[in-house]
Amino acid sequence: MIQKREHWGSRMGFILAASGSAVGIGNIWKYPSIAGQNGGAAFTLVYLACILVVGLSIVIAEFVIGRNTQLSPVGAFEKLAPNTSWKWVGFLGVGSAFAILSFYGVVGGWIFKYIIMSLTGGFDTLAGSPDTAGNVFNTFITGLWAPVFYQVIFMTVCIWVIIHGVKGGIEKWSKIMMPLIIILLAVLAVRGMTLPGGSEGLAFLFNPRFEELTASGIVLALGHAFFTLSLGMGTMITYGSYLGKKENLLNSALWVIFLDTAIAMLAGVAIFTTVFALGANPAEGPGLIFVVLPSVFPQLAGGTVWGTMFFILLFMAALTSAISILEVVTAYFIDQKGWSRKKATIRFGAVITVVGAFCSFSLGGGINITGIFGISFFDFMDGLSSKYMLPIGGMFTAIFILKKWGIPNFINELKNGMDHFNVPPALIRTLLTIGAAVVAFIIFNEIYAVFAGKALIG
Ligand code: PFF
Repeated sequence: MIQKREHWGSRMGFILAASGSAVGIGNIWKYPSIAGQNGGAAFTLVYLACILVVGLSIVIAEFVIGRNTQLSPVGAFEKLAPNTSWKWVGFLGVGSAFAILSFYGVVGGWIFKYIIMSLTGGFDTLAGSPDTAGNVFNTFITGLWAPVFYQVIFMTVCIWVIIHGVKGGIEKWSKIMMPLIIILLAVLAVRGMTLPGGSEGLAFLFNPRFEELTASGIVLALGHAFFTLSLGMGTMITYGSYLGKKENLLNSALWVIFLDTAIAMLAGVAIFTTVFALGANPAEGPGLIFVVLPSVFPQLAGGTVWGTMFFILLFMAALTSAISILEVVTAYFIDQKGWSRKKATIRFGAVITVVGAFCSFSLGGGINITGIFGISFFDFMDGLSSKYMLPIGGMFTAIFILKKWGIPNFINELKNGMDHFNVPPALIRTLLTIGAAVVAFIIFNEIYAVFAGKALIG
C-alpha cells in the first residue's frame, strides 16, 4: 500500500523544525568553546564566510532534492538517478544518522542527568570548585549503567515525538521548544551581561584576535559549519521532502542559517559573560558545559534556577536535533521498505540506543572498546561522522547536482515558490563548485593527517 506523504502544517513549523535540527549541542557547547579558543571574532568571521558560501548552497541543495522527489535520501537519489550508484550517497546518510545519534543520545542523557542534578541542588557542593565538578562528571560518565539509564530516557522521548508524525510530533514540538530555547538563552545572556565583569566574556568572544587564528582554526570553522547546519546526511533532504511547492526555499534556508548562527552567538554570550564574571577558566571541550558551568551557577544568586534553565534549554536543543537524525532513519524504512512510522521508529530507535550504550561503555564502563584506531568507540563514532561522513555526503550532494541532475533541473525546482526571482545558473554552479572543492580539501587534509601524521594545513 502506498502511504500518502506527510507534510508540514505551516511554513513557520517547517522553519522551526529545520532550525531545530541545526540548533543543537554543536551551537551551545561547541561553537562558544572553539570560537573562544581560536581568535574570538576572527574565528567567527571565517565561520560566517563558510556558512554563507558553503553552508547556504548545500542547505538549499538538500531542500531542493527533498522537495522535488518527496522522498528521503536513498529514494531521492534513486528517483533522480535510477539504477546508478548515487543511491549510496543516501545510504551514507542513513549510516551517518546511526553513527551520530549513537553518541549524541549519550550526551543527551548526560544533559538530562544534569537537569536533575541542578534541580535537586546537586551543584551546590561544586560551587567555585571545577576540580570537584570534574571528578563528579568523570565518575558519572565512566560509570556502567547510570549514563545508559539517562541515555535511554533521552532516546525514548525522541522516539515518542517521532512516532507522532511530521506534523503532530516533529513540527508540534519544534514549535514549542524552539521559542523556549531562544527565550531561555536570551534571559541567561542578559543575566550574564548584567553581572559585574561579564563584559570581559564579551571581549573574549567578540574581539577579533587575528594572531590566534591558525590554519587549523580555519579548517575547524569549515567542519563545524557542516555539523552545525546538519548537512551531509540528508536531514535537510528528508525535511524538504515534507514540503509543498509553494515554499520559498532560499528564504527558508536563510532563516535556518540566521537562527542557527544567532543562537550559537547568544549561547556564547550567555556562557562567557557568566564564566568571566565569576573568574572561572573558560575551559575547552565538554568541560565547559559539564564542569565549569556547574561550578559557576551555584555562585550566582538563584543559581539553581539559572543552572536548571541552562540544562533544560540544552536538553531541548539536543532533542530537536536528535529527532531530525532519527527521522532520516525512520523515513528510509517508511519510504523504501513500506514500514509503518511506529514500527520503523521503535525498531531503529532501539537499535541506535543499543549501539549508543556501547559508546557510553567505551568511556570506561567496564567494557573497554578502544576501537580500531586506539580511541574510544565514542570518539570513533564522533570523529568518523563529523570529520568524514558528513563532509563526504555534502560534497557528493553538490557533485550530484553539478554533474548528474544538472543545474537547469535544480533551478526549475528551486524556482517553485520564488516566482519573481531570477536564479542565475552561473552563481549556483560557482557556489556548488566552491562548496564541493572546499569540502574535498578538508577531507583530503584529514586523511593526509591520519596517514602522514601531519596535516597539510593545520
Ligand atoms: N546540528 C546539530 C548540532 O549542531 O548539534 C547536530 C546534527 C544534527 C548533525 C543533525 C547532523 C544532523 F543531521
